[in-house]
Amino acid sequence: MCGIVGYIGSKEKTINVLLKGLERLEYRGYDSAGIAYLDQNQIQLIKKSGKLNCLEKSVDRNLLTEMGIGHTRWATHGEANEINAHPHRHGKIVAVHNGIIENMNALKKELEEKGISFVSDTDTEVFVALLNDAFEKYQDMKKAIEYTMSKVEGSYAIVCFNEDDKEHLYVMKKDSPLLIGVGMGEMFVASDYQAFREFTKKYVLLDDFEYGIIGKNAWHIYKDGKEVEKKLEVLDEQDILSNKEGYDCYMHKEIYDIPEVLTNLLTFYETKEIHSIPDYCKYNKIQIVACGSAYHAGCVGKNLFAHFAHFPVEIEYASEYRYQPILADEHTLVIFVSQSGETADTIHCAKKIKEMHIDSLAIVNVYNSTLSRLTDYVYYMRAGEERAVATTKGYSSQIALFIVILREWMKAKNTWTVSLEEQYQEGKRKMLQVIQPCFKNFEHFSWISNIISKPMNFFIGRQSDYALSLEASLKLKEVSYLNSSAYAAGELKHGTISLVEKGTPVFAIATDKNTYEKTKSNLMEVKARGAYVILTTLDTVDQEIDVDEKIIVPDVGALFQPIITIIPFQLLSYQVAKSLDLDIDHPRNLAKSVTVE
Ligand code: M6R
Repeated sequence: MCGIVGYIGSKEKTINVLLKGLERLEYRGYDSAGIAYLDQNQIQLIKKSGKLNCLEKSVDRNLLTEMGIGHTRWATHGEANEINAHPHRHGKIVAVHNGIIENMNALKKELEEKGISFVSDTDTEVFVALLNDAFEKYQDMKKAIEYTMSKVEGSYAIVCFNEDDKEHLYVMKKDSPLLIGVGMGEMFVASDYQAFREFTKKYVLLDDFEYGIIGKNAWHIYKDGKEVEKKLEVLDEQDILSNKEGYDCYMHKEIYDIPEVLTNLLTFYETKEIHSIPDYCKYNKIQIVACGSAYHAGCVGKNLFAHFAHFPVEIEYASEYRYQPILADEHTLVIFVSQSGETADTIHCAKKIKEMHIDSLAIVNVYNSTLSRLTDYVYYMRAGEERAVATTKGYSSQIALFIVILREWMKAKNTWTVSLEEQYQEGKRKMLQVIQPCFKNFEHFSWISNIISKPMNFFIGRQSDYALSLEASLKLKEVSYLNSSAYAAGELKHGTISLVEKGTPVFAIATDKNTYEKTKSNLMEVKARGAYVILTTLDTVDQEIDVDEKIIVPDVGALFQPIITIIPFQLLSYQVAKSLDLDIDHPRNLAKSVTVE
């Protein structure tokens, strides 16, 4: 969360680079935005609450300055107003920050006792005040940085500069991503290479506890007082920069990207020879660890392993896994799932697993992300840049990768039979064939007004349909703000059914042939209590059933079915949000990359 960007180089380019960078980073937060630059040797600040376009209107793009920093915020400490917006300044120093300073109260108290006062509620201002105080003492930025880093606890990616030094940007990193883009006579700093990829393909990744001094022609990175050598990375050209291509929002466009993403992904993993695969035979346990939709994709993965490989898989929210005893050993494979590869909760778990020397595998989209560098094996989702906060193609490619891993796993264990391979090939063929027509069929649900304005929506299903219910419910909530919950279909009668009244929308997902009849009974129970029932089922089952609406999805076989079944719900959420005139790509209070705990 929070996007940070910095630039030093050409005076004609600075403002443009900062604004373009912030635009690419807006997915990380959009409560407020700001920039700082040097004008006639003086720090100038422009900050605005609201989305980036509010800031853009106030900035003169023709401004000439050789150095600047910028920030787009997802509020952690203090309201999303102009005062709390970054950059923050104390004395000679101005900085932007992504992360959370956990001991801010103690530090603030110490600084206040020295007579330093604060204008904002932010932890960042405390960081800057501490750094400035140290600079006043040492009169040396490097020493001031080392002192400050030794005092602060928490997570931070910081870019700052000193009013008296127009030659350098200064950076610090712990637990939040930070990269330096290396140009010719210019340097960039950002939370994500998307911010500067238009200007340079070369970059350096900072590791935890590193800090640096960046001039327009050279950069120096240090750790514990000593200079460290860093590898120059080159951007993966696979990772294509995305634009809306005529769609009204990224979410809509990214749903339509799904067929191409899946075709490429499945072909890649079927044909790639130099692909580092774990020795699957060595494991007697899999644990899946993830957050949000990535967790829901993991629930589908768990189901696939149970039904096809008869292998037990444990799944945990990363935010919970981190604080419990880790019941894993050298025969456990821990699979981390994350689109961004930067989710703080997931990263912390991956670090813990690495320290314990337990094998780990990442299903991740962003190339060279923190998670991809922490795990032993990486399966890239190859979904391209996903910009909408609500994941769609990311989620679908995570499920596809669980299918890929299941197939490799069972092949390694000699349990992948000829008949399973036929199911796989046939399922894949059908899935890729029917997915485009599905978009057309589900592009317009005539009944959405029946669910808008209802106080509650329920999603129910069994087995993989329950996993899909979790994702369908989250998708609706996050982009349309409609209240909704998902339940295992059989659980409703154990309490929640008391909330069902006349007109309550209940989405029943019943594509699992083994449990179809059982879910049917559950939906009849809610129908008897007045619920407005929307049944999702296969085109191959008997649909003679008295429900209010039906969503009929093509039967592509159990392996690939979840990929098809989620499509109408992704489109439904988009349609509801659109009809409510909401900002679909930037839902309130959310950010795409959740880099705080
Ligand atoms: O980048 P990650 O996949 O680790 O993100 C995990 C969740 O924050 C993410 O899936 C979130 O739930 C999405 N906004 C859902 O659409």
